[in-house]
Amino acid sequence: MKKFLLHASVIWVVCIAWTTHAAGSNVAATPPMGWNSWNHFACKVTAADVRAAADAIASNGMKDAGYIYVNIDDCWEGTRDEEGRIRPNEKFGDMKALVDYVHGKGLKAGIYSSPGPKTCAGYEGSYGHEEKDAQQYAEWGFDYLKYDWCSAEKVYQRSQMPEVYKKMHDALVRTGRPIVFSLCQYGYDRVWRWGSSVGGNLWRTTEDISDHYDRMSVIGFDQDGLESYAGPGHWNDPDMLEVGNGGMNHDEYITHMSLWVLLAAPLLAGNDLSKMTPETLAILTNKEVVAVDQDSKGVQGRRITQEGPLEVWAKPLADGSVAVGLFNRGESGNPVTVRFKDVGAPTTVKVRDLWNHKDVGSCSDTYTATIPRHGAVLIKVQ
Ligand code: GLA
Repeated sequence: MKKFLLHASVIWVVCIAWTTHAAGSNVAATPPMGWNSWNHFACKVTAADVRAAADAIASNGMKDAGYIYVNIDDCWEGTRDEEGRIRPNEKFGDMKALVDYVHGKGLKAGIYSSPGPKTCAGYEGSYGHEEKDAQQYAEWGFDYLKYDWCSAEKVYQRSQMPEVYKKMHDALVRTGRPIVFSLCQYGYDRVWRWGSSVGGNLWRTTEDISDHYDRMSVIGFDQDGLESYAGPGHWNDPDMLEVGNGGMNHDEYITHMSLWVLLAAPLLAGNDLSKMTPETLAILTNKEVVAVDQDSKGVQGRRITQEGPLEVWAKPLADGSVAVGLFNRGESGNPVTVRFKDVGAPTTVKVRDLWNHKDVGSCSDTYTATIPRHGAVLIKVQ
């Protein structure tokens, strides 16, 4: 918390007053929120890690903040039985018991597979077993499937991606269970143009994120231009969060989260929830910040201005206000200014600092914040 306060104090804010003063349309209405095992645990994940994540979410404020899905990524798969039914490996054991445990906490559960013969980590994929796998996921009680292209590259042409994804979507629909369908094929063939038509509720727009500022920022700031493809039930997915994994500093994680909420991105925490610091939890659960992501208008924000490393992004909200992100991608502190007319706001507006829960006051024409290297400020103008 000390670090957080320090962050607030190094941001010198000036408000210059020049003038006188799914698998279904009913799932994923707002971008899915939860946790996914991959970014931290990768292939080491066990059922105990998943239970610990569910325990943490249910008790540390994340559930109240909207984090609902507890998603197992790759490396849970075992072999198939003589009828072709997929079984979990020894790290997972009884999958139904695990899902029941997650549901018992008032949360939902997610699973992972590939349309190819093998997943990206070399485990059993769904190729040739789509119908059976969908049925099995539904029997276990899963509410979310991430379907990752991986080795499908070896058995299909890329031009077949829409039909391959639709095949699993249709199998999920036939289970009768509402299951969020997450497409993962790294943005190939401009998936944002067709992802929704094959039943995708979200689709990855890029290759994998990593816990480094350079990678995260290239992915996040490159999302500009995709905003027309996102909306309730179907979202662009710039990949899961790295907040709290340790490879970025506090300002960089503030940039990561600010950008993701402006992008109306799915918010899937990717850290070890059972061991996180209060600073990490504060970033993930800041309700005013999360509210920007979850706004019911469902509009993805876009870049408004870019002057060298200084960028302003904006996302219109349902109540008529606008969330504005001021970003400094540079290597030293810099003032960043937003002109209200550029974000479609009136000349005089009320400004609220969302990270710090503070009304800045009434401002005319522009708002300027001095932002540290790789940092961000997120405001709401009304
Ligand atoms: C791919 C995906 C990642 C993760 C791994 C698992 O790289 O993009 O998000 O699911 O596979 O093997």
